[in-house]
Amino acid sequence: MDQPPSDPRCPISDVDLWADEVLANPYPTYSTLRDLGPVVWLSRVGAYALPRYQEVREALQSHDTFSSARGVGIDAAYNKRAEGSILTSDPPEHDRFRRVLNPQLVPRALATHRDMIVRRAEDIVDSVMSAGTFDAAADLAQPYTVELLADLIGLPAEGRDQLLARATDGFDTFGPPNERMIAALGGLRELFRYCQHDAVPGRLTPDGWGQRIYDAGVSGDLAPEDCPKLMLAYVWAGMDTTVNAIASAVWLFATNPDEWDRVRADPSLIPSAFNEVLRIEAPVQRFSRFTTEVVTIDDIELPAGSRVALLFGSANRDPRHYPDPDRFDVGRNPIDHLSLGRGVHRCVGAPLALLEGHAVIAALASRIERFHEVSTTWRRNNAVHGPESAVVRCS
Ligand code: HEM
Repeated sequence: MDQPPSDPRCPISDVDLWADEVLANPYPTYSTLRDLGPVVWLSRVGAYALPRYQEVREALQSHDTFSSARGVGIDAAYNKRAEGSILTSDPPEHDRFRRVLNPQLVPRALATHRDMIVRRAEDIVDSVMSAGTFDAAADLAQPYTVELLADLIGLPAEGRDQLLARATDGFDTFGPPNERMIAALGGLRELFRYCQHDAVPGRLTPDGWGQRIYDAGVSGDLAPEDCPKLMLAYVWAGMDTTVNAIASAVWLFATNPDEWDRVRADPSLIPSAFNEVLRIEAPVQRFSRFTTEVVTIDDIELPAGSRVALLFGSANRDPRHYPDPDRFDVGRNPIDHLSLGRGVHRCVGAPLALLEGHAVIAALASRIERFHEVSTTWRRNNAVHGPESAVVRCS
């Protein structure tokens, strides 16, 4: 379904960003798109893409012009059904959702959980390394992240084992209506059903983050019908993202042993190293926006009502912003990477994700001298990116 851009000067690409081989390794395609220009028309999906750093960052900071309220996926029909959540609303509606989640997730509030998170990271690292060889995704990142967030939310024990697969489905639904997206719709419906019927007062622990959502429904800070939607944001956005970040970290340390040596020699580099992991292997590769007025980028006019894909994974490897962007450098400390977003929708769970990442890298650094890559396969998901499996032997 090739469609022309409305401004004939706009560079056009017929690349399928959601094809299996591109999802597994998107970086050569991103480089081609960045060279075409700061805005490119993706003719197969009838949408614009911003592949360079500066334009993605500006779009994220301009929520009045680059709206989230008409969805952040790429498919128009899907976006229509997804309106009205924390992710898919603009201020002032969006502020209501943020006000409910923020108190639990600000660093000061998270400090009370810090020791528990560090202990869990140490326990799981002790357990996986005792086997000598482990899968950084299935054995380490997944159980660590899912159980931790499920406990903080206060979810019932039953059904937890399904959450990650459903969240993965949820991320697949952000793509165009390809086979993967269609197959995932049922999983997302199931996740929403879980939030409406299982993750509810009476089954949630009274002191967990989930109950705070329903308290807001009672106090009037949130409309009661918005409570399951906000619960969905937690279980959808908080797991598969962090899982990918941690699995990518181990893979990067295995394939860049000198960088691992630097972290081990100087653990004060851990926050910088985790920022570099997030920059170079963005766990969420893209979300989109909808223009509310005409936007001009590099003299090219994007009409009001355009769908625009913001390519975080490409922006983070833009040589115009990061010198030698394909090099993994634990000392780079790229605090301005775009993997956690920016502006009003900047990831509300970022402080938790950072705490989790730092704790697990610290536990690995104090115990494991060397990771030896045994085998790695990369995920093919319409939005998230990371190793499907990253098997390493440790010494
Ligand atoms: C490394 C891990 C993570 C990554 C890479 C990540 C990435 C992102 C990104 C890029 C956005 C911005 C979306 C946009 O601009 O449209 C976002 C928003 C969000 N994230 Fe995260 N996230 C991570 C961890 C978490 C965790 C642990 C939680 C929950 C505790 C969480 C919950 C959310 C929620 C609820 C939003 C919506 C915020 C809003 O729209 O105002 N995320 N995340």
